[in-house]
Amino acid sequence: MARWLLPALLGSVLGLEPFPTPPEQTAEQISNFQRIRARARDASLAATPQVLAYFDSQPFRGMLKDCCPKIADLPAEELLRRYRAEAQVAELAHALPAQMKDIFSDVTVKEVGGMSWFPNEFQVALIHHRNLSIGASPVNDAAQKDIFGCKPFAEREPTWSEVANRLIYIAHNMRRLDSGSEPFFGDFTVVFNSTHVKDSVVIAPYDTGLYEMVCFNPHMKLPGQLNRSMLPPLNCSAWPKSLPVGTLDYLDHLILPNLAAAANSTKTNRTMLDSARDLYVRSSMSEIDYQDVPALGMQNLGDYLESDILANPRLPEAVKFGIGSFPTLFGTQDGRDMQAIAKRLHWPLFWSFGTGDPTAQDPHMTLDLKLPGNLRIADPENILMTTNGTVSGSASETFEKVWQEAVEVRAKRNATKQDVHKWWHALDDQLRAAPITWRSCASVHDCVGVDFAGDCICVSKREERIAFTV
Ligand SMILES: *[C@@H]1O[C@H](CO)[C@@H](O)[C@H](O)[C@H]1NC(C)=O
Ligand SMILES: *[C@@H]1O[C@H](CO)[C@@H](O)[C@H](O)[C@H]1NC(C)=O
Ligand SMILES: *[C@@H]1O[C@H](CO)[C@@H](O)[C@H](O)[C@H]1NC(C)=O
Ligand SMILES: *[C@@H]1O[C@H](CO)[C@@H](O)[C@H](O)[C@H]1NC(C)=O
Ligand SMILES: *[C@@H]1O[C@H](CO)[C@@H](O)[C@H](O)[C@H]1NC(C)=O
Ligand SMILES: *[C@@H]1O[C@H](CO)[C@@H](O)[C@H](O)[C@H]1NC(C)=O
Ligand SMILES: *[C@@H]1O[C@H](CO)[C@@H](O)[C@H](O)[C@H]1NC(C)=O
Ligand SMILES: *[C@@H]1O[C@H](CO)[C@@H](O)[C@H](O)[C@H]1NC(C)=O
Repeated sequence: MARWLLPALLGSVLGLEPFPTPPEQTAEQISNFQRIRARARDASLAATPQVLAYFDSQPFRGMLKDCCPKIADLPAEELLRRYRAEAQVAELAHALPAQMKDIFSDVTVKEVGGMSWFPNEFQVALIHHRNLSIGASPVNDAAQKDIFGCKPFAEREPTWSEVANRLIYIAHNMRRLDSGSEPFFGDFTVVFNSTHVKDSVVIAPYDTGLYEMVCFNPHMKLPGQLNRSMLPPLNCSAWPKSLPVGTLDYLDHLILPNLAAAANSTKTNRTMLDSARDLYVRSSMSEIDYQDVPALGMQNLGDYLESDILANPRLPEAVKFGIGSFPTLFGTQDGRDMQAIAKRLHWPLFWSFGTGDPTAQDPHMTLDLKLPGNLRIADPENILMTTNGTVSGSASETFEKVWQEAVEVRAKRNATKQDVHKWWHALDDQLRAAPITWRSCASVHDCVGVDFAGDCICVSKREERIAFTV
């Protein structure tokens, strides 16, 4: 099949006709962002008193006393300051697959290594010659027009210059998932550099695809095998369609809708306060150590602010670091390819335990499943090369030894959850790392993680990086 040849060709095809490199931000993206920022500024300012009042309400204070005593008596202004600060540094994560998937149109690990910019799903669809009437694209097209004010395409098949105006889906990781984005979205998560992409980040209070299907456009045709009974019950009053979207600087108006969106108390017993508790126990705002955060339920995985990039961000520099899915990629050729790309592009690389399930089944099908969601390790060889992180002398050797065990098992049979656990436990102690937070490092935007001892893992100086990447 011709499409399987594409990865090998991409290096020479992209950047040339018929897929020339788009502008880093098109004129339409710039004017759309300016319009969004102006509206966000007003809406955020207007919402601040309501947010402060909520933070001072009896039920909210009672919840904090119970879950997060260290911050239960902080003034509402300080709680808001922390929220804003954490929002500025929380990971902007996009997970992509090792191999092409059916519903989502996305670049693969190998392809991204050959790109000069990070493509959005419509650009990928044109490159892959996918039919845009099938899969998730119609839902996302509707959401981008309805919610972010993107211009409709003139014809059913968009042109290469039209698709350059669209956006890249990003999960905002305030809940500190080890996988950055939801584990079933893909095998390799790229985390964008928030400083680098700041003037293109546009934020919705909840996953726009889900909200579009459940609330804004409830009669639309659902993609793939999805059926309505599989969609979560949302609270459609939480986010009125007229609510302006936000930016990293102006998002106070999204704080309460984000907590209310997944809390429909008619259909479930979940309330906004439950969502608030789930956020606070996982976030660094409450000063709970990463190793002590409680497991995540499947329902809360999707409660992120959707913080999309309205640009064509340049590679490799727009990406801050990567996270490989340990259960699906450790001990595989795809995993080796990912390591090689990270090394060549000088991206620091981590691994996440995620669901611990090597079959990569969509965990949403098992609603009572809980994920630890706080298990991340450094790739020892990579981290020594790309950052000032330190690992114990034997860590690289152990990593390779366990990798070979995994290769041997995977050559004989499919890996099981037990295999994944065993490999993970052989590495976990030596290499454990945590996401950075607003309070972890002095120069937080130069840093990619925190090690076991609480020391920041930061990138080397830019001059040195350039020497590595040419
Ligand atoms: C794309 O799929 C739709 C719906 O299945 C179909 O009507 C249309 O003809 C297809 N277009 C192309 C170019 O194959
Ligand atoms: C929708 O999915 C549910 C749960 O998987 C299943 O029980 C039901 O039969 C499906 N309905 C349709 C119309 O396919
Ligand atoms: C809550 O869910 C029910 C069932 O899905 C739905 O009919 C109702 O409109 C929802 N309530 C709100 C406020 O969205
Ligand atoms: C939906 O959220 C609003 C807050 O935005 C809340 O007042 C209302 O009770 C919620 N409705 C349901 C059905 O949970
Ligand atoms: C909500 O809680 C009540 C009382 O605890 C329980 O009887 C009921 O089954 C719950 N409903 C749902 C949908 O979980
Ligand atoms: C890495 O560099 C940062 C910033 O210079 C510093 O704060 C941190 O302690 C260093 N980390 C290690 C492990 O040396
Ligand atoms: C591994 O799993 C796949 C998908 O479930 C299956 O098709 C394949 O036969 C399995 N391979 C082995 C060696 O068991
Ligand atoms: C992120 O981008 C900023 C500005 O371009 C740069 O100073 C910083 O070093 C970058 N951080 C990382 C971790 O690459």
